[in-house]
Amino acid sequence: MPNNGPNGSEPLIRMVNIRKSYGQVQALVDANFHVNEREIVGLLGDNGAGKSTLIKVLSGAVPLTSGDIFIRGKKVDLRNTGDAIAHGIETIYQDSALVTQLSIARNLFLGREPLKGPRFLNRMDQAAMNDVASGLLKKVGISKNIPPTTPIGSLSGGERQAVAIARAMHFDSDLIILDEPTNNLGVAETQGVLNFVRGARDSGHSCIFIAHNIHHVFQVVDRIVVMRRGKVVADDIDPKKTTVEEVERIITGMSEADIKAAVS
Ligand SMILES: Nc1ncnc2c1ncn2[C@@H]1O[C@H](COP(=O)(O)OP(=O)(O)O)[C@@H](O)[C@H]1O
Ligand SMILES: [Mg+2]
Repeated sequence: MPNNGPNGSEPLIRMVNIRKSYGQVQALVDANFHVNEREIVGLLGDNGAGKSTLIKVLSGAVPLTSGDIFIRGKKVDLRNTGDAIAHGIETIYQDSALVTQLSIARNLFLGREPLKGPRFLNRMDQAAMNDVASGLLKKVGISKNIPPTTPIGSLSGGERQAVAIARAMHFDSDLIILDEPTNNLGVAETQGVLNFVRGARDSGHSCIFIAHNIHHVFQVVDRIVVMRRGKVVADDIDPKKTTVEEVERIITGMSEADIKAAVS
């Protein structure tokens, strides 16, 4: 079978003939996509190409119209984001859901708080959460000394994004999906995200990285997949063996002849 992972094993994720319609709009038209174990995939395409819809289907945020999803070769039914998280798929959106009234530390552990003392007391280990939170904030490039007890509501958009990324880093998801995570981020925060994506493979994760900045994608991914009008039109581009210009041509669907004709 084509598209198999190393050793002929099934890939971590395989999406087959995925269709998604919003009324008259066909956001996905028989899209085929896979992610191997410990692989960083860059997903590129013009605005409206269907990138966010594809990952929303994979993260259980929107139901597919038709098609199949397999995880390690087993067909799965992802009815909601909880299903996807239970299957090890963690997604970070541009505006990730965080609770503004709660602290950074509490948001990092939301629903998965470490306990201290006897289990029946159900007492959260606040000190442990604060400790882990401080370390994670440094890792994602929040260098200013923001205490982990700070409420999310007083952070900038970029800082909130960094907290969401820190959450995915800490909980050992098999696949971490980042949909334009560097939008609205400062330089240090952006570097933090890129370092995270670069390091994800070594810590055993797979990653789908969607970003506006094609140079950022080239810097950190193993393989580039391009979508156009709801379809995957290229899925094995090696960023080490091709140029940004060539990939831009694939994104726009223009051949070199088209481009010459357009500028002459
Ligand atoms: N909730 C929605 N309702 C109607 N149309 C939508 C919705 N979400 C996305 N679309 C449409 O689906 C297509 C793909 O969008 P999207 O997946 O967001 O693209 P991308 O992330 O590549 O920019 C676009 O034509 C978009 O307008
Ligand atoms: Mg999008």
